[in-house]
Amino acid sequence: MDIGTVTERASPRQFGPKDDLPEEYRKAATRMIQFHANSEIMGAYLERPFIRQAPSLDRKLAFSAKVQDEIGHGQLLYRAAENLGVKTRGQMLDELANGEGKFLNCFHYPMTEWWETPMIGFFVDGAAMRRQATLKKTSWEPYAHAMDKICFEEGFHIKHGESILRELATGSRKEQELVQDAFEEWWPRILQFFGPTDDQSTHHDFASAVGLKTMGNDELRQAFLNAYLPKARKYGLEIPEYPRINEGEDGRYEVVEDDLDWDEFWQIAKNDYGPGRQQIDSRKAAREAVAWVRESMETPGSGPGSDTGDTPQAAD
Ligand SMILES: [Fe+2]
Ligand SMILES: [Fe+2]
Repeated sequence: MDIGTVTERASPRQFGPKDDLPEEYRKAATRMIQFHANSEIMGAYLERPFIRQAPSLDRKLAFSAKVQDEIGHGQLLYRAAENLGVKTRGQMLDELANGEGKFLNCFHYPMTEWWETPMIGFFVDGAAMRRQATLKKTSWEPYAHAMDKICFEEGFHIKHGESILRELATGSRKEQELVQDAFEEWWPRILQFFGPTDDQSTHHDFASAVGLKTMGNDELRQAFLNAYLPKARKYGLEIPEYPRINEGEDGRYEVVEDDLDWDEFWQIAKNDYGPGRQQIDSRKAAREAVAWVRESMETPGSGPGSDTGDTPQAAD
């Protein structure tokens, strides 16, 4: 199939592993899904400490389930990307550990305090959900298929994040102050989630022409602000004065770009931001710590099932 035919046929869930797709499509889809998969894994690393740190058994259980969900989302997505025949799952995991794999800006920042958790669990997951819901209509069928399960589970994550936010927002004055502080710290990062307003992305036009993306970053940011600005206010959060957000007469929000730190954003995009490097290094250490398991399973005759010669694969 040539790229002209792909563009003509582009529609939701149109292409699958049996289609002979041009390299340009396969590479663009791989780049997009790999970024998504990496973000699932790195988001889980940020939340993992709260399986211990959460203040009650119910919250610990919820974090435990959520972290498992996110790792599962990552694995599903690596599979959906692997089917494109550009990179294997192992290569993508290696790239992430080596600092070559890219992932969402918000997951490059450390999260250490309990009152910060709704910033990821409610606002970042809420922003992610906006994007993910549109991906149910992506043209690469395995990706769209993965989104059915992912969106279903993300719905619970957001409810959990909202429940923590509600608890803090209706708690003691101190708790209300702490959650407001966390909001002020995280809000600019959350606004940068969808990239620069005036999106110069060279990848975007192609991805939308071939049906991989069905909505642009600007539209997604609008949809997110329309839904989440009122929710933040509902929980008593004060929207910081900076970055300025102007509301047009047509109800559209406009974020004043110059009020945001784009140097930091681009540093993050290159995996060059200090705290983000630490997250990547701990991912690397975790991958190295279980290298012996992969090796033993990949060496015929040394792993479980070696008696029968039926050696399980690392990914099984
Ligand atoms: Fe997820
Ligand atoms: Fe999630």
